[in-house]
Amino acid sequence: MYDMIEKFNTLRQKSSLTVLGIESSCDETAAAVVRDGREILSNVIASQIPVHRRFGGVVPEIASRNHTMAVDNVIDEALVKAGLSLSDVDAVGVTYGAGLAGALLVGVTAAKALAYSAGIPLIKVNHIEAHIAANYTAFPSLKPPFLALVASGGHTSIIDVSDYNDFVLMGSTKDDAIGEAFDKTARLLGLPYPGGPEVDRLSKEGKNNISFFHGKKPVNKDFSLSYSGLKTAVVNYIHNARQRGEQIVIEDVCCSLTHTAVDMLADTVVQAALSAHRDLIVLAGGVASNSYLRETLSVRGREKGINVLFPPPVLCTDNAVMVAARAYFSIREGKDLADLTLNACPGLKAGRPLC
Ligand code: KG4
Ligand code: ZN
Repeated sequence: MYDMIEKFNTLRQKSSLTVLGIESSCDETAAAVVRDGREILSNVIASQIPVHRRFGGVVPEIASRNHTMAVDNVIDEALVKAGLSLSDVDAVGVTYGAGLAGALLVGVTAAKALAYSAGIPLIKVNHIEAHIAANYTAFPSLKPPFLALVASGGHTSIIDVSDYNDFVLMGSTKDDAIGEAFDKTARLLGLPYPGGPEVDRLSKEGKNNISFFHGKKPVNKDFSLSYSGLKTAVVNYIHNARQRGEQIVIEDVCCSLTHTAVDMLADTVVQAALSAHRDLIVLAGGVASNSYLRETLSVRGREKGINVLFPPPVLCTDNAVMVAARAYFSIREGKDLADLTLNACPGLKAGRPLC
């Protein structure tokens, strides 16, 4: 380990760094090579969506097994596409949390083996912080400070990014993530997994004519959010309509759900940005692909003099580019060096609490 600490400290000073990223926290096995935290040399993603579709959601045990089968090929392909061999790589970054324990362990174990055999540093990466780092590759001149919204199937977190390595959690969901609300209600409507993109697509053909709550939800003072109530309201609406034999217009349910879910999120994020005195909001995570979220935050941000950036959809959903980019900034700061005892951390949180 002492040799590795020395190597790590030397690496920090190197003018250019090539990092291999590995991601396996949920249902995507991914590997990517990124130079200097900004330049994507390769981005390989093996999605398990077709495998889990028939179960209507991710089955953890099946996810782990599929990661095991895919991980070596995905890493090889990432190196080949980058035109590099392992000896050209300066460090390996890997997601160690948050996520499914068994799924995370596959990526962590592969990363340990590679780092050990190549004699290069292993960098532990927080998945939520990695989502934010995807934006450094999408927008090469992006620099903190900014406010980040990480909205995905597992997270809805509003994070103040004052520096590349400084994250303050300003608010988050108290229960379900916004993506979970989309996925679970979509399932009840008979839409294929993952429901988020389907809800987005159908929403454009529907009307926002169902009121799931009475009145507009005010922004909570602690910027906290809650999606379990909305999910239950949509579920009750569907059950009641079915019991009464009323026809459900799926497009209208999708549109009304999207508007309700996004409106309360957009209001909260803009308030948080104003409170943190930030004039830039950066979106991240799978739900950041949602067209209404992108449009609404852009409009509401502009009204308050706040610019809004969102990465292309391929960098919103899980990928390893974001992991390699995040690892780069950790190396430059001299943090997050891991050894071979690194374990999966399924409940890992992002950011220091707001004091
Ligand atoms: O970031 P991600 O790939 O995985 C997690 O870290 O959770 O996000 C996946 C989530 C799923 O809930 C999926 O339904 C949602 O992102 N999603 C969307 C859209 N594309 C993906 N939700 C709404 N609109 C979309 N266009
Ligand atoms: Zn994710």
